[in-house]
Amino acid sequence: MYDNLYSRALFFKRMNKHFLDINDLNLDELEGIIENSLSLKGNNKYSEILKGKFLGLIFEKSSTRTRVSFEVGMTHLGGKASFLSTNDLQLGRGEPIEDTAKVLSSMLDGLVLRTLDHQTQLDFAKNSSIPIINGLSNKSHPCQILADLMTYYEEKGSIKGKKVAWCGDFNNVCFSYAQAAELFDFDLWIACPDEFSPKESLHLPNVHFTSSVEEAVADSDVISTDVWVSMGDENQAAKRQAAFLDYQVNESLLDQAKEDVIFLHCLPAIRGQEISENIFEDPRSRVFIQAENRLHVQKGLLIELLN
Ligand code: CP
Ligand code: NVA
Repeated sequence: MYDNLYSRALFFKRMNKHFLDINDLNLDELEGIIENSLSLKGNNKYSEILKGKFLGLIFEKSSTRTRVSFEVGMTHLGGKASFLSTNDLQLGRGEPIEDTAKVLSSMLDGLVLRTLDHQTQLDFAKNSSIPIINGLSNKSHPCQILADLMTYYEEKGSIKGKKVAWCGDFNNVCFSYAQAAELFDFDLWIACPDEFSPKESLHLPNVHFTSSVEEAVADSDVISTDVWVSMGDENQAAKRQAAFLDYQVNESLLDQAKEDVIFLHCLPAIRGQEISENIFEDPRSRVFIQAENRLHVQKGLLIELLN
């Protein structure tokens, strides 16, 4: 009896799709999610498509957009979501991930994880028979890049062959951009000080490194950046703030891109550091559309993974 049930669980585990990195799904699946999400945003906000489904969220770091968008998204789709603080879970008192993942798999239909260490995501995925969604780790932030891509598709169509410039820290968000560049076939130019550049160790198709923001943004279709001090990097704050001083995105930098360039930032942002004081008011900024699209595109992702 146990053997049969266990085999069945293993079978479903093999069928199970996780979303730990953007390339866990293929281009057709990702473009399908974006297309579906645009339709959900435009016409089909509420449905019962995930009725009876329950999503858990375990976050080891702060969040505004990721947490709220998943919680609200599940409600829009007829399901439910529950935020599970690591302070309250037995996980926080040392219960092994293996046990936690198996138990939660028997009760939930999906789990969003925001973790200090990407290995935690892999350990959950290995022991879960439900989809695990990476809501940010030290390595990557695939849900954010889905929203960025949706924002581009919504206004401009396919991003294939376009030039995307990233200015500043090569961090989790930038890594997901780098993976997306291969999948979606756009060129990513990363302007980053040599000291923080992974150019010697990271070789991905369509990804170019430079230490010059001018070279990165020249003739670009999208300019994006993020904080210089990510969650977990606080002990290097002073060093980073000094090293990235020349990498701020401001209005005159946008002027060096294509005339119809759009500016994106995953938020939260620090004005006066990676961005100038008023760039969010610039007509080329799409940051609040991008933030709203977290909700819509994650609804598309939940339908793909949980339905
Ligand atoms: N961009 C993003 O993931 O925001 P939160 O940290 O607020 O979730
Ligand atoms: N790179 C940032 C993204 C926050 C959404 C961080 O990890 O803190």
